[in-house]
Order: sequence, then structure tokens, then C-alpha cells
Amino acid sequence: MSNIILQVENLSTSYGRIPMLMGVNMSVHKGSVCTVLGPNGAGKSTLVKAILGLVRADKGKIIFMDQDVTHVPSHKRISSGIHVASPATGTFPKMTVETNLRLGAYNVDDKNILEQRLEEVFHSFPILKNRLQQKAGTLSGGERTMLSISKAIINDTKILILDEPSLGLAPIIVEEVFRFLKKLHDERELTIMLVEQNINKALSISNFGYVLQKGQIIYEGDTSVLQDSDILKNPVM
Ligand SMILES: Nc1ncnc2c1ncn2[C@@H]1O[C@H](COP(=O)(O)OP(=O)(O)OP(=O)(O)O)[C@@H](O)[C@H]1O
Ligand SMILES: [Mg+2]
Repeated sequence: MSNIILQVENLSTSYGRIPMLMGVNMSVHKGSVCTVLGPNGAGKSTLVKAILGLVRADKGKIIFMDQDVTHVPSHKRISSGIHVASPATGTFPKMTVETNLRLGAYNVDDKNILEQRLEEVFHSFPILKNRLQQKAGTLSGGERTMLSISKAIINDTKILILDEPSLGLAPIIVEEVFRFLKKLHDERELTIMLVEQNINKALSISNFGYVLQKGQIIYEGDTSVLQDSDILKNPVM
């Protein structure tokens, strides 16, 4: 198997007749943390949706673990190990935290492994252990992000994609989430694709990535040099 776990090749998408992504190329190496930066409206979430299969590719390819998944339905991409974590998706709001975690373990058959991974989650996010019987929909945004990331640990996730995990969270919770992401990456060598506007937080776990602007990749490489640049500050519509 190649060292590249996810490859986006010359990908173009549109909303109706309006082009959005235009010829996007990106490679995520196994075990790396790859960041995607860019201003509001650049197409970052569209890229995540295209990788997950929620937005159709007009042109180009998405290769995941050496398989062309461009036309594979979302649920199959998910069960093959692509996990997108965001407070808005990935949790069942009417179910309890515990049911979310147990039901979310869709590719773990061994009960002992499941219990072991649940313990790992509770160790990392003790707050979830205290809220096992609470409905996920009543959790705070930060708690929901943690729950969503926890599902990635419970399953055999091969790539964890986070779409702006810091959005709307108190700084102290952002710290906690990023500390946990770093631990996940260090201890499990989990591959992470991180979409962020908070460049400082992104740089705290990775300094390699891409900048997307108006649906095109305008920069690839060391992202620490972008810290003071205007690229991320100006919305381009
Ligand atoms: N379902 C949709 N129908 C039409 N236009 C859409 C749709 N979803 C997104 N867009 C438009 O596509 C553009 C890119 O949106 P996208 O959500 O990918 O941006 P983003 O980079 O994630 O921005 P943000 O940083 O604000 O989350 C925006 O101009 C947005 O209004
Ligand atoms: Mg977005």
C-alpha cells in the first residue's frame, strides 16, 4: 500500500451551475496531520463533503487507501474508515451519549475491544462519562465535538477529518480538544485532516497543509509561514 492514504486528484464540484471546487489536488500521507486553511466561503467544507460523498464530483477523482471511491456511496466510505467529526454531524441528538457511542461502534465486533475503547474515551474525555444518560442533542457544542471525535476512536477509523473543531467553542474547550487530537495522533498514529480558520490552533498540531481560496489550492507546504499573512483574514466570495 502506498504511503498516501487519501488523494484528491483534479477535483471539481459545483452547486447547480455555479462551479465551486476547481481542479483541487491534495495528498494526505498516512499517519500525518494535514491542515486545510482558507477564508470563509473558500470551499473547505465543500471539499470535506466531496471526500465523504455528500457533494458530487463533476471531474477528478478521490482515492482512499488505493481505491477509487469517487462514485462510492457515503455509507461505504464511512465504513471503510473515513470519519468526519463536527458538532453538527456524526451524533444522533435524540439518543443518549452511551447509545451514541455503542451504536456508533459499527465496525467493532469484539465486545472486549469495544469496552476497552470506551474506557479510553472516558479517560480522555471524563466529561462524557458523567453524561452517559444525557441526550446528545442537549450537550454543549464542545461536548458534542468530543462525542463525535470519540466515535472515531471507537471505530477503526483510518482518517479523521475535522471541519473547524474550534468553531464556537470556549478557548479552554478548544485547548482540551486539540490536546486530545495531538494525543490521538501521537499514540495511535491516526491520520488527521484538519480544516481550520484558527491558524494558531492548526499550527499547534501540524505545520503542513494547503490553503484553499475561491475553490482552488493556492498554497501547499509549510503553513507556519502563513501565520501573519492576510490570506486567511479576508473572505473572498
Ligand atoms: N448547498 C449549497 N448550495 C449552494 N451554494 C452552496 C452550498 N453549500 C455551500 N455553498 C456555497 O459554496 C461556497 C463554499 O462554501 P463552503 O461551505 O465550502 O465554504 P467554507 O470554506 O467551508 O467556508 P466557512 O469557512 O465559512 O465554513 C460558499 O460561497 C457557499 O455559499
Ligand atoms: Mg466550512
